Amino acid sequence: MIRWLTRLLRGTPRHPPEASRAGAPPIIVGSRSMQEVDIADLLGRPAANLDTPELQRFLAGKTILVTGAGGSIGAEICRQIMRFCPTMLVLVEQAENNLFEIDRELREKWLGATIVPYVADICDATRIRNIFRTHQPQVVLHCAAHKHVPMMECNPGEAIKNNVFGTKTVADAAAEFAVDAFVLVSTDKAVNPTSVMGAAKRFAELYVQSKNSCQLPVASCQKETAELSSLATGNWQLATSPRFVAVRFGNVLGSSGSVVPIFKKQIAAGGPVTVTHPDMKRYFMTIPEASQLVLQAGAIGRGGEIFVLDMGEPIKIVDLARELIRRSGLREEEDIAIEFTGIRPGEKLYEELAGHEEETCPTSHPQIRVWQLPTADARQVGQGLAILAEAIDGSREQAITALARCVAEYRPDAVTLSTDETDGSAKLRLATDEDAVIRAA
Ligand SMILES: NC(=O)c1ccc[n+]([C@@H]2O[C@H](COP(=O)([O-])OP(=O)(O)OC[C@H]3O[C@@H](n4cnc5c(N)ncnc54)[C@H](O)[C@@H]3O)[C@@H](O)[C@H]2O)c1
Repeated sequence: MIRWLTRLLRGTPRHPPEASRAGAPPIIVGSRSMQEVDIADLLGRPAANLDTPELQRFLAGKTILVTGAGGSIGAEICRQIMRFCPTMLVLVEQAENNLFEIDRELREKWLGATIVPYVADICDATRIRNIFRTHQPQVVLHCAAHKHVPMMECNPGEAIKNNVFGTKTVADAAAEFAVDAFVLVSTDKAVNPTSVMGAAKRFAELYVQSKNSCQLPVASCQKETAELSSLATGNWQLATSPRFVAVRFGNVLGSSGSVVPIFKKQIAAGGPVTVTHPDMKRYFMTIPEASQLVLQAGAIGRGGEIFVLDMGEPIKIVDLARELIRRSGLREEEDIAIEFTGIRPGEKLYEELAGHEEETCPTSHPQIRVWQLPTADARQVGQGLAILAEAIDGSREQAITALARCVAEYRPDAVTLSTDETDGSAKLRLATDEDAVIRAA
């Protein structure tokens, strides 16, 4: 059970083998023993199963580089890539222990495979360029980022540094060393962002879109779908190289710091389970689903698209908590209380599927849709970069104001607007529409 919980917290949920379950003492909560829960069961829908032959064409025999390779999603992407026999897998990760774990795991499982681990910061342009120069990767999966919304509200300069300029460093190297495909792992929080993290990711998307020499027309869904279908059947010469795409998705069940591991710890400790708001809803995916989608997007992307997986209906967080309590063999209130703690800075009650200018269209894959977005204007993106660069080491107010100038859809939430790092007073002045250098045209 303990080993299973550990695996759960690392994000690779599986039922424990019967033998180990039999030997392990159950966790007792109150007068009842807690049962293990398969995370995929919490989805309330079948997990997405993506196209394997297409991924085979995309990954087999390639040199592939993964940033954030030691994280929940990066590590699972590495596991899945190895099933397709790449020539070489290059792992880029700043957290040495995370890198050590995934490197060791992959080497144990794939004897003789060429796996090259780099402790490296994506913001270190010299180091990143050297890695690209040495290995000349063909496919880049960019997962490294700061992801915690409340944490980034307190550290907006770091969000800009890592999520915007770190992405820029990796994308620039990908362009310079002519990769075939670059995939930015983004988030549904980038849709009409209210958080620093979402806004920084939205700007990263704009930067990645602006790197495409060939961008998709905004108008014709049908035509685009037909073109994507032809790419999906392996007609690669249509694609412009390098192809830069992004993938947005919702919350990943069981990823590091996500609600399920937190709820499980709270349940194991006898409660209470803390939920921010009774109406808070999120779209959910499993780590394998999210990882496959990232790979699939790289396979079907032509360049310039932002993809999204069909995630079904959003789930209320409180229902997830109730389900987890129930499936753990316990009773709400009698065994475990649920406590509402209030929405945190930067959080929304609901994540949106589409913004005002954004609609999604089908692709060749039934579970992947593509967002119809205006093309990113490289000149405006360049101006935005200059504004953000100036704000990185400034005050929190300067960083948030710079983000609001560069991401027109960004609306800092009430808490962000009313707090100041020094005295908590309402000091933040939002950029006006006239100030905004990039508009959602
Ligand atoms: N977990 C989710 O629910 C979720 C949902 C949507 C999108 N995403 C996105 O997926 C990506 C990965 O998320 P995750 O859940 O695996 O997060 P994670 O924190 O588990 O993994 C991120 C990894 O990136 C590394 N990293 C961060 N900054 C780095 C830097 N400067 N240089 C090198 N490595 C760096 C971290 O050390 C970490 O190992 C993020 O971009 C996140 O925004 C996650």
